[in-house]
Amino acid sequence: MSVVIAVDGTAASGKGTLATKLAEHFDFAHLDSGSLYRLVALGVVDAGGDPNREADAVRAAQAIDHRRASDPAIRTAEMGRVASLVSVFPAVRAALLQYQRHFAAHPPGGEKGAVIDGRDIGTIVCPDADAKLFVDAAPDVRAHRRWLELKAAGAAPDEAALLAEIRERDRRDRERPIAPLKQAADAALLDTTHLDIDAAFAAALALVRPRVEAALRAQAKG
Ligand code: CDP
Repeated sequence: MSVVIAVDGTAASGKGTLATKLAEHFDFAHLDSGSLYRLVALGVVDAGGDPNREADAVRAAQAIDHRRASDPAIRTAEMGRVASLVSVFPAVRAALLQYQRHFAAHPPGGEKGAVIDGRDIGTIVCPDADAKLFVDAAPDVRAHRRWLELKAAGAAPDEAALLAEIRERDRRDRERPIAPLKQAADAALLDTTHLDIDAAFAAALALVRPRVEAALRAQAKG
């Protein structure tokens, strides 16, 4: 059994960076599940489809091109918005579920564990995860961080528009009936509003380490 850390949270809360750093720390594989939904969004847009039409979204979900997971084209605010439209469809989520669960159970590279970040990892994808975090921060702080990130990538984003987009996306993610964004009952809450990345990572590590180390000991015993 692999050891699983589930990192869920709101848009641009820093969960992706924390998940990457946790994976490096424990030498685990990392899956950014948001990139799967962004790839579905890209597939719909590339095919000239309508993200509000279930058949178009499902077709894209069944034909995901994983080689494009690091394509900057999926990182735009627009792809985040389209991702949150296609992610409301149960058949889209079902099409991505198997891939995520397989990653958790059989981390690539034979690693002992996996860190998966998203919205429903601790609630739906891996409800039995060994450690769960729910990451959040004040919306204006998240919008500013996303603004810095997009600016560093060469874009010229409007911060007020990013804030509106993030609020709208969180609302849609929280209110959808299937696999909504919510803190699992057994997840530890990490508010990164006043934390820089090093402080957030230290706090995340302190929260998950006891559970991860216990799970690794149990794994070693077989
Ligand atoms: O990076 P950011 O927090 O802005 O977003 P993301 O993690 O890349 O996710 C983009 C969108 O995909 C989210 O707003 C959700 O609508 C959807 N998503 C989801 O429904 N379930 C997941 N496990 C991950 C992402």
